[in-house]
Amino acid sequence: MEWFVVFWILVGISAGCWWYRKEKSSSSSSKNDMNMEQTSGVLPKGSFGWPLIGETLDFIAAGYTSQPVSFMEKRRSLYGKVFKTHILGTPIIVSTDPGVNKVVLQNHGNIFIPAYPKSIREIFGEYSILQTNGTLQKKVHALIGGFLRSPQFKARITRDIEHYVKLALASWKDLPLLLIQEETQKFTFKVLVKALISLDPSDDLDFLKREFDEFIKGLICLPIKLPGTRLYKSLKAKERILKLVKTIVEQRKLGMERSGDHENQNAIPNDAVDVLLRDGSGEQNDRQSLSLDFIISHIIELMIPGEETVPMSMTLAVKFLSDCPVALEQLTEENMKLKRQKTDSGDDYCWTDYMSLQFTQNVINETLRVANIINAVWRKALKDVEIKGILIPKGWCVLTSFSSVHMDEENYENPYEFDPWRWEKTGASVKNNCFTPFGGGQRLCPGLELSRLEISVFLHHLVTTYRWVAEKDDIIYFPTVKLKKKLPIRVTSIGNSS
Ligand code: HEM
Repeated sequence: MEWFVVFWILVGISAGCWWYRKEKSSSSSSKNDMNMEQTSGVLPKGSFGWPLIGETLDFIAAGYTSQPVSFMEKRRSLYGKVFKTHILGTPIIVSTDPGVNKVVLQNHGNIFIPAYPKSIREIFGEYSILQTNGTLQKKVHALIGGFLRSPQFKARITRDIEHYVKLALASWKDLPLLLIQEETQKFTFKVLVKALISLDPSDDLDFLKREFDEFIKGLICLPIKLPGTRLYKSLKAKERILKLVKTIVEQRKLGMERSGDHENQNAIPNDAVDVLLRDGSGEQNDRQSLSLDFIISHIIELMIPGEETVPMSMTLAVKFLSDCPVALEQLTEENMKLKRQKTDSGDDYCWTDYMSLQFTQNVINETLRVANIINAVWRKALKDVEIKGILIPKGWCVLTSFSSVHMDEENYENPYEFDPWRWEKTGASVKNNCFTPFGGGQRLCPGLELSRLEISVFLHHLVTTYRWVAEKDDIIYFPTVKLKKKLPIRVTSIGNSS
């Protein structure tokens, strides 16, 4: 979500300027706009910092340190778990309180909407699930989530993930040095595209990857749409992607109609296109059904949240394990045991085999907790809301900080330590308000189980095939989590090293 933050930095000063002038000239009328007198809650304590720039510089400076939550921690100790500030061009309420975060994410009454600036909305497209609200968001969320969680899908995608992981790993043995962050990105994109449109490796897939990389760059740019500008190039790439996806979706629709499959409610969908097309086939009877344009555009927007998060989780798991040999040893033992069982029985792996590796799941939980790949989500209140006596005025943004909760000593002992064993005591249910790497409530990540499965398969085959030595590398937390050198490692296959 690099684009999101950087964009705000670019517009921050001007928006801050506008806001400051507005505040100064009409402080009484702004109170009325926010309907502050209609609720009994009070604005949380906090400081708006400097005129124009607010506390933006402090916020960014903390992002460049190894403890990016220090911005939140400092204010939490001064003002409490929920405080107000002014960053990136907007007055904002920051919540580091798991209970408040939960209420915001549950979003009963659809009071909170995602808050993205105009250029991002343009890049996302009008149909993107990340910015649709109400009935449409719920419908698409349920359709996609239901499909990605289904045992049939998991059974099939497990084979695809295994295939792509093994191919990638096989190619690593010839490389003197490899960058995990780049390598994982290559095969996870293939899995994503397979899950969404069933595209196998081909010229079309290479084309899609190239154009998607070009498209995604536009998420961090000035919002100027003139020939030659970054935004313009990105939107052009998106047009080319749309053309390819349109052809695929139209062919699939035709094939479904010919076979009568679109009317078969019991047919098992192969991918997200199937799911959305089947829903769209009720056009005459169902005014809520999805149009073809929606489906085509939506498929592309579905690629955005999954594209970077999964490979970054894999990369960070490798980094944390490299720095914690005891955990790596226990993980390897657990996975070797499964491998031996499978070799002896001659059975194929199924997704439950991977998911039942308890220590491996604990390593994944701990990686997601410490890494904080999506460190927060931003919402805007459509009306005054009171949560635990705190007022969130209409029109204000709320930042629900997941990383602050994950790195709070009240919730985790020695929070900065990578300690997969801590999960043996607590478990990691989605009902745990103090563990929200996938968000929660209404917009809980529908890719949650797929992501865990992908990471598990990757770790299993990595640790049962190779030993590795990682070069020292540092995590950068701003604007998004990345490894400074993309985590270079040297691998030796286990057969050769023993
Ligand atoms: C480790 C990997 C991942 C992490 C940490 C992650 C995290 C998140 C988070 C925190 C949200 C909530 C955003 C919000 O509330 O505004 C979210 C939403 C979403 N994620 Fe993921 N995600 C991951 C992988 C994936 C994958 C692989 C897919 C697709 C197959 C995916 C698809 C989505 C979608 C479509 C949404 C929007 C849901 C909605 O607004 O209804 N994610 N993700």
